[in-house]
Amino acid sequence: MKLVLLGAPGAGKGTQAARIAEKYGITHISTGDIFRKNLKEGTPVGLKAKAYIDKGQLVPDEVTCEIVAERLKEADCRKGFMLDGFPRNVMQAEALDKMSDVDLVLNIAVELDKLMARLTGRRVCAKCGESYHVSTFAGGPCLKCGGEVIQRADDTEETVGKRLRVYTEQTQPLIEYYAAKGKLASVDGMKSIDEVFAEVVRVLDAIA
Ligand code: AP5
Ligand code: MG
Repeated sequence: MKLVLLGAPGAGKGTQAARIAEKYGITHISTGDIFRKNLKEGTPVGLKAKAYIDKGQLVPDEVTCEIVAERLKEADCRKGFMLDGFPRNVMQAEALDKMSDVDLVLNIAVELDKLMARLTGRRVCAKCGESYHVSTFAGGPCLKCGGEVIQRADDTEETVGKRLRVYTEQTQPLIEYYAAKGKLASVDGMKSIDEVFAEVVRVLDAIA
């Protein structure tokens, strides 16, 4: 299965991707996670990406597309993959068309005005990436792996506002792009995490 997860910042791409990867054994590729890993390791790509991530802007297409193209050549992608956070504009979608023929683009549909609270309240495990929210997570170490739970540097009110604008201007048009190709399916991302996942499973089982 070659899958793309589409959705606004905070739509629940990472949350659902972790569950999909576990249930279907499919390789999860998050460009945001790749940039943050590079940043942590102080690589040139990480340092370059930081300037854009901190401003809530997209990292330049040539950097991002090169990373994805290389990643898709790895052995664990041979049977399929799930892209999370890529493509994010039409140029990246056209680049992906040349790299691979995706089976399905799953759009997690949300009300954009609800996302500020989701993102400013999000906490993530620095070790395994598990996502939490302050409304249901009392604090302390990660419940999954015991790692340190932190707030992402781009989850401040100012940067989230910019990320949401970038989404509306550059990423939202991809819904139409993939609908026109007959590859789009949508799930209601305003339901609970378990309910969204149940919808996702229905869609994926239908194409499997
Ligand atoms: P990236 O890391 O991809 O961030 P994003 O797209 O802004 O999305 P998020 O990770 O913030 O949200 P998510 O949809 O994964 O939500 P989550 O599941 O965590 O990108 C970061 C930056 O990297 C970009 O701004 C850009 O600079 C750069 N970048 C990355 N890819 C790029 C590309 N292709 N091109 C150029 N630049 C790129 O959930 C959010 C919160 O909500 C959590 O607290 C979670 O617990 C909660 N939650 C989830 N689902 C639900 C639900 N159903 N109900 C209630 N709460 C929920
Ligand atoms: Mg994410």
